[in-house]
Amino acid sequence: MATQNESEEVRGLEGVIALSSELSSIDGEAGQLVYRGYDIHDLAENASFEEVVYLLWHGDLPTQSQLDALKSDLRTARELPAPVIDILRQAPDSAHPMAVLRTAISALGLYDDEADADSPEANRRKATRLLARTPGIIAAYARLRNGDEPIDPLDEASMAYNFLYMLNGEAPGSAAEATFDTCLVLHADHGLNASTFTSRVIGSTLSDMYSAVSGAIGALKGPLHGGANREVMRMLLDIDQKGADPVEYVQEKLASKERVMGFGHRVYRTMDPRAAILRDRVQELSEERNATKWYDYSMAILNTVKSEKGLDPNVDFFSASTYYMMGLDPDLFTPIFALSRSAGWTAHLLEQWADNRLIRPRAAYVGKTGRTVTPID
Ligand code: MLT
Repeated sequence: MATQNESEEVRGLEGVIALSSELSSIDGEAGQLVYRGYDIHDLAENASFEEVVYLLWHGDLPTQSQLDALKSDLRTARELPAPVIDILRQAPDSAHPMAVLRTAISALGLYDDEADADSPEANRRKATRLLARTPGIIAAYARLRNGDEPIDPLDEASMAYNFLYMLNGEAPGSAAEATFDTCLVLHADHGLNASTFTSRVIGSTLSDMYSAVSGAIGALKGPLHGGANREVMRMLLDIDQKGADPVEYVQEKLASKERVMGFGHRVYRTMDPRAAILRDRVQELSEERNATKWYDYSMAILNTVKSEKGLDPNVDFFSASTYYMMGLDPDLFTPIFALSRSAGWTAHLLEQWADNRLIRPRAAYVGKTGRTVTPID
């Protein structure tokens, strides 16, 4: 039975070291995030999403020819199986976009002959197929639910460009492509967060990549994880529609003990570095578009929550207005998070399987003891 001390220590595994990883490290005190030794600011500024995918999967940034080979593999692998498009076509209007994505990724496994092959080479090929197909799934779903047909990606374009292009058939400007690419880089991995842990737990049973990533998508859907960016945008839109003063709006929420989404983080004791990078992007986008209200609301909320609760914003707080100003539908914000995090989930699975050990923690038992059954007459 759990001792008093054990049950007091049960805090959702916070701070518990469950496994070791070479992928990303977070210094919560300093507000630092590093992928395989590279600081996130450096990567956001100087590397594309494809380069970061290579870095996470292989351990080093690619040479030009390695990058060309990865892009070519992604291009070859990206066509969606027709039955998966049918699933997207048939998704009910009421479905949560993350539930549709989870279902479609799971269905990809049905049409992958190698779904249960477990060699390192087969796992790498599956990681490539899974990542290559995710943008097409999200974009096709976004169009089909509006009665429009999916758009094929362009051959030579980046993943960031193609995702935006597949939504409406219009060439995104270079600034939009660059901002979106940065968002993909920033969300690609983040230590042993809930969805990554989920994927590793599923992977550790030697289940397959599609099961593990579908489970991870389920975890990311929750508003305490990736679902938060959609909730942040709901709040900003509510303030705007009501013509409310953002400071008073948030003060009321805090007074009634409501959670202000996008604040606080289980690891960071200071500002999430990704939020700081995106805050600057939101400011630039606002100025470029002569629409500073989203930046102004965000900063008013940030200052209020910081002074009243001492909490700093996390990445979801600023990804919301970044995506909104790029014209993206708020209910695609969390699927977009999943698109970038697929790089991290698959990298963690490759790492997990390189030296697998079943992940099986225990719970502190705090229930009743010593009971006996009285048979029902
Ligand atoms: C993430 O990027 O996964 C979130 O910040 C949540 C986390 O790390 O716990």
